[in-house]
Amino acid sequence: MSGAQPTSDPSVEQPEAAKSADQPTASTSNPATTSGAPDLPAATPSAAGAAAAEAEAAAAATTAAHAAGDVPAAPVPALLPASHWADLPQAPRDDDTDSAQGDNASSTASMSSSILQYRTIHGRTYHSERGNASYWSPNDEAQNEALDIIHHVLTLSLDNKLHIAPLGDNIQKVLDIGTGTGIWAIDFADEHPNCEVIGTDLSPTQPTWIPPNLKFEIDDCTQEWTFAENSFDYIHIRWLFGSIADWTHLFQQAYRSLKPGGYLESQEASIMFHSDDGSVHEKTAMAQFGKFFLEAAKVIGRSFTVVEDGTQRKAMEEAGFVDIQEKDLKTPIGPWPTDPKQLEIARFQQMAVEQDTEGTLNMVASLQGWTPTEVAVYVAHLRRELRSKSIHGYYPQKIVWARKP
Ligand SMILES: C[S@@+](CC[C@H](N)C(=O)[O-])C[C@H]1O[C@@H](n2cnc3c(N)ncnc32)[C@H](O)[C@@H]1O
Repeated sequence: MSGAQPTSDPSVEQPEAAKSADQPTASTSNPATTSGAPDLPAATPSAAGAAAAEAEAAAAATTAAHAAGDVPAAPVPALLPASHWADLPQAPRDDDTDSAQGDNASSTASMSSSILQYRTIHGRTYHSERGNASYWSPNDEAQNEALDIIHHVLTLSLDNKLHIAPLGDNIQKVLDIGTGTGIWAIDFADEHPNCEVIGTDLSPTQPTWIPPNLKFEIDDCTQEWTFAENSFDYIHIRWLFGSIADWTHLFQQAYRSLKPGGYLESQEASIMFHSDDGSVHEKTAMAQFGKFFLEAAKVIGRSFTVVEDGTQRKAMEEAGFVDIQEKDLKTPIGPWPTDPKQLEIARFQQMAVEQDTEGTLNMVASLQGWTPTEVAVYVAHLRRELRSKSIHGYYPQKIVWARKP
């Protein structure tokens, strides 16, 4: 990792210090495997035009989403251009939520390490350049708030459980890869006070007031891990879609680090919204949402169709895991479910998306040549749909867990 350089892409603003500073030494990574950061989006006006042409070509132009389980199998037509949303009149409001989410001022702790010399795209910060990692979502307060709300959605969906893998009473060491704000690791450490928990991430965005049996490390999980062999009872990996080029390699690292009998659990989400009644149809902003990411995947080389492609199971099999089991979830979004529990989940999921929709789309939309203003126009349409009781959207998730023999 010490060989990592700041990106040379002119579309990515970098603080002066980052242009010359030495990059941090990774705690658990192997410099020999670094091949340089992939370029971030060069915003080209022609990209939007190309997208329009592709939209006309519809199904023939698609490269995305193969079906697995109950995920729809139809080919995915291309992303509609920004001009489509600018020209489209706003649908009348039929929402019953009337306030925007809170004001999300950004905050930065005063640390001197170069891991805090973040990259900036359209005013939003991203992790510092480490190895060949290039994570697509901002690491600032607005996005972190969304991650914490999603954690609430995910635990609600599992009846307040933090894992599905059958962990015994005597687990001693647990690893959470790509821990984000660390909220899962904090909850897990609280629940298992005698267990040592480690959470790793590219960005040092975790809090400092944490349970005594938890520590956070800055690490790129796509590099070779240096955790001791056979040392963990359980490894948890959640929502790394769009971050991993080689899932088999990732799970091989987990296999090596787990004790015999230890469990790996992987929870991933589809980036595509669906409906079972056609209310999320091709021309809705909700159906378009995931397409930003499918297009981005072609550029960043990291798949957003992990669930659709059955990647978790395949990669676990290839890594040598046994007793592989799966659970599929449909996570609703918006005010439409009639079942009280599903409604609660759907409301929190809506809140999570609305918390920072622009931030979530910032990098992937700029890859398509969209300006922040164009994104804002599209997001206005998306919000209307998310708040509508007549659009019955959900996204699929898949949890896969398996044992090291
Ligand atoms: C969608 S968030 C999920 C966070 C957390 N797992 C959760 O479920 O709350 C993805 C996280 O993975 C981290 N990440 C992405 N690529 C990574 C990599 N190569 N190594 C370590 N962390 C990575 C990001 O920084 C981000 O915090």
